Amino acid sequence: MTDLQNRILAWFQKNGRDLPWRKTYDPYQVWISEIMLQQTQMDRAVDYFNSWMRRFSDIESIAVASEEEVLKLWEGLGYYARARNIMKSARVLQDKFNGLLPADYDLLLSLPGIGKYTAAAIMSIAFNSDYPLVDANIERIFARLFNLKKPVKEKETQAFIWQKAGELLPHGKARLFNQAMMELGALVCIAKNPRCKICPISKNCRAFSLGLTGERPILQEPVKTIFIEMATGILQRQGRILIQKRKANGVWANLWEFPGGRLEPGETPEMALVREYLEETQLAVSDLIKITTVQHSYTIYRVTLHCYFCSLPNNGRQEPVLHTAQEYRWIKPAELSKYAFPAGHRKLIRHLQNNMNLFQET
Ligand code: ADE
Repeated sequence: MTDLQNRILAWFQKNGRDLPWRKTYDPYQVWISEIMLQQTQMDRAVDYFNSWMRRFSDIESIAVASEEEVLKLWEGLGYYARARNIMKSARVLQDKFNGLLPADYDLLLSLPGIGKYTAAAIMSIAFNSDYPLVDANIERIFARLFNLKKPVKEKETQAFIWQKAGELLPHGKARLFNQAMMELGALVCIAKNPRCKICPISKNCRAFSLGLTGERPILQEPVKTIFIEMATGILQRQGRILIQKRKANGVWANLWEFPGGRLEPGETPEMALVREYLEETQLAVSDLIKITTVQHSYTIYRVTLHCYFCSLPNNGRQEPVLHTAQEYRWIKPAELSKYAFPAGHRKLIRHLQNNMNLFQET
């Protein structure tokens, strides 16, 4: 082992966080934690991980679970394809691999939702096999260590970083070393104001020696955010409300929602809501009452969601004819927490749960 490797490992032994999957390195737990940690902050991921493990203690329990239940546990984490891919993989693993993760990089890579990073993470962290890996934390470390002058996501830069990660990996120590690097990026070599004074490898760092840590990594062109307005309505009928389940493909597949959609040019939120109800359910809603406006973001979108109560004229009892959903239910407001909704609608639900008096009496 080189001195550099030793310093990284020693730093991790002393400063590594006490994370739940670091107790046993059970491959199943490593897999789930790695999927959750993609796009999710550590603290949040740990909470969801603990709830998940209380409910699904092994791969078989996921393979036989309903998608409804899995999505409910995932609710709030976003990027629901991750949960669906876990379910698909669990069924393959149950059928073909005795409900266990194989210690084989190519087999792991063939599973839904497992790419180059995750396969290497499972191989190294669960099985302590010599596979290097690179995540955003590690990219930042290398961008500073080698004072890289191109954005880390560029193809040649990626190839360079993966190559260096492989060269730096000490044989037989992949479990600790890969985590040590990620941890160093998460706790010391942080994006803003890196803590170079306590960094175990600052003396090897070119950006540090040149006083350029603030300028590395080079920032990429930011992705343009798109601001959109949407309207949604909770249709009330004799103490019950209408929810519909989105189709099995597309965005938020299989999640529940209240009908609604985007405002078209020139439309008020009220006009958009009436039109969307007609298009999605063939119901002509009326008596719109504004509940609240919620803001939420997903991918590149910043959404302003106008939320209403609405009803059918003359206490009508028409049933919806679905055009964009696979199923509908008339539920009691108290049952809302049983269903998984996308983030914006969940914010609306939270608002209502704090103000249950807003619902119509039966
Ligand atoms: N990010 C993803 N996996 C991680 C791990 N095992 N330790 C620290 N950060 C991580």
